[in-house]
Amino acid sequence: MTLVKINQILEGKCTDQKVTIRGWVYRKREGKELIFILIRDSTGVLQSTIKKDNPNWSEAQKLTIESSLTLEGNVKIDTRAPGGFEIGATHLTIIGLAETFPISKDKSEEFIRDMRHLWLRSRKMNLVMKVRAETMQAAREYFNKQKYTEVSPPMFISAAVEGGSTLFGLKYFDQQLYLTQSSQLYLEILMYSLENVYCIAPSFRAEKSRTIRHLTEYWHMEGEWAFADMEDLMKFEEDLMTHICQTIADKCVKEFKELGADIEKLKAVKAPFPRITYKEAIARLKPKNSQLDWGSDLGYEDEKVLAEDFGKPFFVYDYPTAIKAFYCKTYKDHPEIAMSVDMMVPRIGEISTGGAREDNKDILIERMKEQGLKPEDYEWYLDLRRYGTVPHVGFGMGLERLLVWMLDLDNIIDAIPFPRTTRRFYP
Ligand code: 4AD
Ligand code: MG
Repeated sequence: MTLVKINQILEGKCTDQKVTIRGWVYRKREGKELIFILIRDSTGVLQSTIKKDNPNWSEAQKLTIESSLTLEGNVKIDTRAPGGFEIGATHLTIIGLAETFPISKDKSEEFIRDMRHLWLRSRKMNLVMKVRAETMQAAREYFNKQKYTEVSPPMFISAAVEGGSTLFGLKYFDQQLYLTQSSQLYLEILMYSLENVYCIAPSFRAEKSRTIRHLTEYWHMEGEWAFADMEDLMKFEEDLMTHICQTIADKCVKEFKELGADIEKLKAVKAPFPRITYKEAIARLKPKNSQLDWGSDLGYEDEKVLAEDFGKPFFVYDYPTAIKAFYCKTYKDHPEIAMSVDMMVPRIGEISTGGAREDNKDILIERMKEQGLKPEDYEWYLDLRRYGTVPHVGFGMGLERLLVWMLDLDNIIDAIPFPRTTRRFYP
């Protein structure tokens, strides 16, 4: 008996053959003469039927939702069945009989979120996780092709990257440590050895914001490289984004269709992306939000409004120095402007931040002091400017924000298997 996966059957590769499948009961409908069992495995959902004269009929009667089983039978085309195929059971074995499954259609969203460990079996989460894996793979593929070396930075760190307000502190034996907000500073260290580096790793933010784009633990795709400027940076980011979108549009057609997500918008993503300065962004937004002036931080609402004008990914660059992190390089003639760039997409706003890094030790020390940071906490970071400093750039893109946009998800918590927010950390 050939053991097959459900997708092989749905792709018509097993028609009129006798096969065995293993999986879980997805739905069940019992008639007098026939029981319909929808079975799921990691690859799809298939309709099976078992007749009353089958010796395993009473086993089939016992089956509950999410029970695991092995089923042998004959594959037939059946246009009435979901997916167009059906397996007529000749033999059925229960592996694990499930107790009454707590998740059903009438349950609240809140309840389903508390049942995350079971909800991850849903078709929706199964498909999202597949697209997530393909997205990480596409990103790696692009970095690798461009000869970037993947590196492994630490998650325990001793000094803030992105400012204290979103820093998670933790007791580390007798010391105060933090969870990393970004691997950037460590990528900068490794860059002096490997020149072009990247990582895909968790970042942590003590983020009180309860929006569809904030998690306290998210996955960060970050790159850093030497001898490069803002132009190189934007070019790399738009090429990476184009590669990811085109790869997903090619590989994840089935997933997008079943999730009801619009794949056409991915196909439309092609470098070069529109670019506007922060100054222009303020001018565009001013008629809609009179409180905005040069120097204001753009909020989520502002970014959403701005993104509606473009309807696709675009860049905003040259932000005021005062609203950017200490490491941002500034223009010699305009120290009030930082070489910093955000990529934005419709509905979500910012999905990446990058920029040129200050490579002059003395200016860097000044910038630290302006921001109330102690240069002595960053001695190793200053060493990088003492020993063979080079102009360099880098960026970080939030994997889950990218997925929310690509998959038209309502909330970022569905872009990650185990979401952590102010209120959620179970299981
Ligand atoms: O804009 P951020 O704070 O920039 C940095 O961390 C830089 N050090 C990155 C770098 O240059 N290497 O964060 C970068 C991206 C954001 O654009 C967003 O996509 C994501 O990380 N991000 C979050 N995603 C989910 N939940 C949160 N709370 C996030 N905070 C940032
Ligand atoms: Mg940012």
